Amino acid sequence: MQTLSGKRILLGITGGIAAYKCAELARTLIELGADIRVVMTQTATKFITPLTMQTISGYPISFSCSGKKYSMKHIELAKWPDLILLVPATANLIANMRVGIANDLLSTLILATNTPISIAPAMNQNMYLNRATQENLTILAERGINIWGPKSGKQACGNLGLGRMLEPIQLVERCEVFFQIKCLQGKSILISAGPTHEALDPVRYITNYSSGKMGYALAEAAKLFGAKVTLVSGPVSISKPKNITRISVKSALEMHQTILNHAIKHDVFISCAAVADYRPKTISSQKIKKTDNRTQMNIRLVKNPDIVADVGKLVKNRPFTVGFSAETQNIEKNTLDKLIKKNLDIICANNVACSNQGFNSDYNAITIYEKQKKTQLPLTSKTKLAKAILLYISECL
Ligand code: PMT
Repeated sequence: MQTLSGKRILLGITGGIAAYKCAELARTLIELGADIRVVMTQTATKFITPLTMQTISGYPISFSCSGKKYSMKHIELAKWPDLILLVPATANLIANMRVGIANDLLSTLILATNTPISIAPAMNQNMYLNRATQENLTILAERGINIWGPKSGKQACGNLGLGRMLEPIQLVERCEVFFQIKCLQGKSILISAGPTHEALDPVRYITNYSSGKMGYALAEAAKLFGAKVTLVSGPVSISKPKNITRISVKSALEMHQTILNHAIKHDVFISCAAVADYRPKTISSQKIKKTDNRTQMNIRLVKNPDIVADVGKLVKNRPFTVGFSAETQNIEKNTLDKLIKKNLDIICANNVACSNQGFNSDYNAITIYEKQKKTQLPLTSKTKLAKAILLYISECL
């Protein structure tokens, strides 16, 4: 889904080892609909070839403002973008920006532009923590330059510390936030995620392979698009996302009660949790013992309430209700049955028989069904897919 559609981003690439990541950065920005132009310093060309960046961006790379053809290049380029992103922002570039040095095309256009500028610092941790760099960054921030990163981690020099450039995907997310695709501003979204645990005794439970990744990605995407998000999560090992209300539950009964308490206070409910359809009829208060004479054991199961169907039935203040459908066969028929039976507005079907998608994978492919319409969202990361699903929902509201 094209979250950066029509946005004009000028990538200013400077000479640092992290420059090689600019290929991935440019490719992802373009995939999301951004129009990219690239200006490189001469040193940058030692870390990543202009041919690579030209091939990815689809436009010639600019280096120099000398020569007749280029005499007004810095002015043209300074006017063109909606955002200038300087990657990696070396200590040298940051110092030059503070002073206002204009000795090549990139530094000249930085001085000549009125366009917002973001920088992604990347350097050795001592250089980053040096008072000179810190003072330079403070001054740039005061002038309204966005400072994106750095983060901590292993550095090219072998050191461990603060100074690594943000990853391309993190920079892309900063761009999305910068352009504020606030299609869900003012909306409240309730999302269920993860599995449920249906207890048998104090030490055992029945569950499934849901990791919560899809539901958490939906929560992050909804937040990114400006929604107020409540996440009702089964037991997962993902940490609580920032600025999202998370309510942790274990069993389907607990999830049912929590969702039904909150649903009417939300504009949208997305039921992504893999809720157990059945639970053990009784929960033994003591650990069930293995006995010598018993070679088989029967567990009586009873049906759990259907959470999303109960939300679908609400008459007053019913939220826009989105189901998921996890199927291994007859996907379309089974999904359309659920859409009708559970009275859903839309349902997202995924084939959970494929090993590289669905349960506990970072990837998924979804087909969104409405009564008369189906839309395919091909295999991609759950992060990207979640954005596409949320944009789709925002257009239904
Ligand atoms: O968590 P991940 O590892 O990232 O995996 C993601 C996922 C595969 C779990 C997710 O994409 C998904 O398919 N979630 C729905 C799983 C599921 O329970 O599907 P279902 O077809 O059995 O149920 C249909 C719908 O009814 C779902 O919206 C489900 O949340 C809901 N349901 C089911 C049973 C029940 N008792 N109450 C419910 O609300």
